Amino acid sequence: MKILMVTSEAVPFAKSGGLGDAVASLAKALKRAGADVRIVLPRYYNINKAMLNAIPGPMGVPMGDGEAWCAVLESKLPGSDVPVYFIDHEGFFGRDGIYGDKAVPDFPDNPYCYAFFCRAAFQLCRKLEWIPDIMHAHDWPASLVPVYKRYLEAHGDFAHTHTVLTIHNLGYQGIYNKDVFPYFGLPWEAYHGAGLEYFGSINLLQAGIATAEKITTVSPTYAREIQTSILGCTLDGLLRHRSNNLVGILNGADYDEWNPETDKYIPAHFNSKDLSGKAVCKEALQKEFGLAVDPEVPLIGMVARLTDQKGIGDLFGPMHGAAYHICTKMNVQFVVVGSGDVWCERELESLSGKLSNFKVKLGYFEKTAHLIEAGSDLFMMPSKYEPCGLNQLYSLRYGTLPIVRRTGGLADTVSNYNEEKGTGTGFVFDNLTPQAIFDTTGWAVYTYYNRKDHFIAMQKAAMEQRFSWDKSVSEYMALYSLLVK
Ligand code: ADP
Ligand code: GLC
Repeated sequence: MKILMVTSEAVPFAKSGGLGDAVASLAKALKRAGADVRIVLPRYYNINKAMLNAIPGPMGVPMGDGEAWCAVLESKLPGSDVPVYFIDHEGFFGRDGIYGDKAVPDFPDNPYCYAFFCRAAFQLCRKLEWIPDIMHAHDWPASLVPVYKRYLEAHGDFAHTHTVLTIHNLGYQGIYNKDVFPYFGLPWEAYHGAGLEYFGSINLLQAGIATAEKITTVSPTYAREIQTSILGCTLDGLLRHRSNNLVGILNGADYDEWNPETDKYIPAHFNSKDLSGKAVCKEALQKEFGLAVDPEVPLIGMVARLTDQKGIGDLFGPMHGAAYHICTKMNVQFVVVGSGDVWCERELESLSGKLSNFKVKLGYFEKTAHLIEAGSDLFMMPSKYEPCGLNQLYSLRYGTLPIVRRTGGLADTVSNYNEEKGTGTGFVFDNLTPQAIFDTTGWAVYTYYNRKDHFIAMQKAAMEQRFSWDKSVSEYMALYSLLVK
């Protein structure tokens, strides 16, 4: 099985969130399962060219009425044999940021850049003389792949190639002014026929959903939720229409990176049989954030993109948010690493100025993210919606019990505390309100102080769970096999 992953992110080269983790570890796991899997990425400015090998010769990509020219570079996913190809075009990708930067969160020329990138994926295969059985596109930036396949590449080299689209997040659809359409180089019938038209604009993800042969998303619950008007982000009707070809396959976690027994970023290792190393990590975490060093106080951690999706309005909203009340009414410590919405960053700074038990680091800190997973007792993840969520998987592995809303992948991976039996792996609530976050945190903190036996049993149970990629890979392989007869 030859599979080309077309993606805007793959770690360690490019990452803004879980997409980069998920694509890279899926590719590695498919490779282990015997597939000939390769990845194509844009060569963003911060990917050091000196580390990549050039594939000789320029590559022409037909766009609009002419051609755009680029170079192709290559490398491997570290620790694997998965080839990664980089489309190198100074005009489109020679800048800081993936989709945008602090000042311009969504670059206005993104539809041009990613349309070019999708078309370039086909030219790349021709250049390599390697035609995949499956072109597997991820999220809106790669959503024109199935459109190009259907309207421009149905015959000839790609006649036997099939398309799969994975939705990692329906909240980002790539909606742009329709003026860009001629640049796509598609026939006019594709404007409506491929589902590009969206209230007078262009919606890239909608077109991907309309044209991909198979659609997947990253958890079974999210696959159901996106077919409802509440979490369908206006595409629920189309998703219901395509439901026979839509499936939810849970992401795995990359336990090479996220394992408390081997983690290279933490000061002491531990496992479910011996948690003493976790106490060392807790002390290091308290010191790193300038908190009082106290082994007894429950420490709540959070690592997130600070966007509405993550429940930050109810957690941190000025005046009414739950975090202030948690930190003033409960004997806890709370640490946050994140970056994102400006209002939220300002609010977090203001809270940390007011409260001695609340600390924040704004920005992207890989090492601290690992220390938070290792050193915290509880992990805060009250998402409004969560297609899969990786942080709660990491938390479980490190015995850091997640506090989550019952949605998407959180519902599929965290089981709620049962007070009678002392079972469960986290604390779960349904309605996203500041009160529900406060109450559920109170429940977790109460359990920590007063039902230590239950809390420790839950930590051990959580640490023994495995969300490995191998199971997901067999589901992807089965799906590909339905297409490649
Ligand atoms: P999403 O993809 O919606 O952001 P996930 O839970 O799937 O959510 O994945 C988030 C990933 O990004 C995790 O690997 C998490 O550790 C990482 N991450 C997010 N924000 C930061 C940050 N500020 N510093 C370090 N890592 C972060
Ligand atoms: C998205 C989702 C997240 C998921 C990740 C990887 O960023 O928000 O829930 O885990 O993609 O699939």
